[in-house]
Amino acid sequence: LALLWVHMLESVCSDGFLGSKLSFFINPLVYEEQLLWVSGAQGQVNTYRIPLLTFTPKGSLLAFAEGRKSSASDVGAKVIAMRRSTDKGATWSPTTFIVDDGLQPDGLNLGSVVVDEEVGSVILIYSICFHLYLCHPASTMMVESIDDGLSWSKPRNLSVQLGVKNFAAGPGFGIQKRYNPAKGRLVVCGHGTIEGDGVFCILSDDHGLNWYNGAALKSIPYNQQKRPQDFNPDECQPFEMTDGSIVINVRNQNHYHCRCRVVVRSYDGGLSLPLEDLYFDYELVDSAVAAGALQKDDVLYFTNPSNDYNRVNLTLRWSVTHGKSWENKAMQIWAGPSGYSCMTSLNSGSPEDQKYIFVIYEKGHKVYDETVSFVKIHLYGGR
Ligand SMILES: *[C@@H]1O[C@H](CO)[C@@H](O)[C@H](O)[C@H]1NC(C)=O
Ligand SMILES: *[C@@H]1O[C@H](CO)[C@@H](O)[C@H](O)[C@H]1NC(C)=O
Repeated sequence: LALLWVHMLESVCSDGFLGSKLSFFINPLVYEEQLLWVSGAQGQVNTYRIPLLTFTPKGSLLAFAEGRKSSASDVGAKVIAMRRSTDKGATWSPTTFIVDDGLQPDGLNLGSVVVDEEVGSVILIYSICFHLYLCHPASTMMVESIDDGLSWSKPRNLSVQLGVKNFAAGPGFGIQKRYNPAKGRLVVCGHGTIEGDGVFCILSDDHGLNWYNGAALKSIPYNQQKRPQDFNPDECQPFEMTDGSIVINVRNQNHYHCRCRVVVRSYDGGLSLPLEDLYFDYELVDSAVAAGALQKDDVLYFTNPSNDYNRVNLTLRWSVTHGKSWENKAMQIWAGPSGYSCMTSLNSGSPEDQKYIFVIYEKGHKVYDETVSFVKIHLYGGR
């Protein structure tokens, strides 16, 4: 069987229907694992959280996390920590702090990483003063690397273009549209404050020079105190389908309708998120947490702590029906405490790169924010 799939992989690698043919063989295996950050163990950082992962246009892997300086709290001074791998995750550079907010009482929050394949840049969007704790107003910030993640620009304040608003990107990756409509557009989606919550997307049609506000899916009641079970779409992960639409998998903060994920879709490149296309994915049980989603070779992958009340049981699921249904065979990545996750993969077209997806997630033994773990998953490696 193993020989058969290797042969198939090699013979159909240029085939558009690769995903549906190979999906039968998907049987994932954690092939490599490394703890990229350990909370409390490294210098001035108390807790590492909110991991992001991406490949650069040159094929390097970049991992990012918030380094929370004095406590595990969302509020407080932080750094953006980065590690870089030029061998697809086998070895990693030491940690560098690419942004440092100093002593701010309500410092930076990650964030989305978005790769512009057309110009070869990597952009990181984050917020400062998101919680308005001893500061005002909240700002949406951007840093950029044009040398494969080696060096980073000074922070730029995007609120000058976007207007002042509490916007927390991601956490996860933003996308560059590969298909029309709006091929080439950068789309970064995130959420607002708890009261003014909802899913909001910011867009750029010139590689990150100018940004403007796109789709808004507002919470109900908007800008008012929420109650349990109110409609409160929150942290989210967008991804593009081959028909050019953008699907966004969303945290259902107040458990409206279910303890599961909300899914919305944009057919106009992130300008709108029609309510008619919103649905609840009952199979994706969720306690209200940031999750990972990735479309690769016609298969949709999803990671979250798969449990309706607790952040435990980090699980990889996959769908060969664009999310309409999920394969019964799921893979547990970690049974214990686990939180936010983010996925990436290389779409080089080579059979080797078709075999792997890469996950970064919050992992612990007692609590989920003890470490940030990187795993390389062999999609056809299990028995
Ligand atoms: C960012 O720009 C907005 C709008 O001009 C401004 O209100 C805010 O203070 C700026 N933030 C920072 C950190 O400079
Ligand atoms: C872990 O996730 C799987 C897949 O969703 C589910 O069947 C199982 O009940 C979960 N286990 C726990 C302890 O949450």
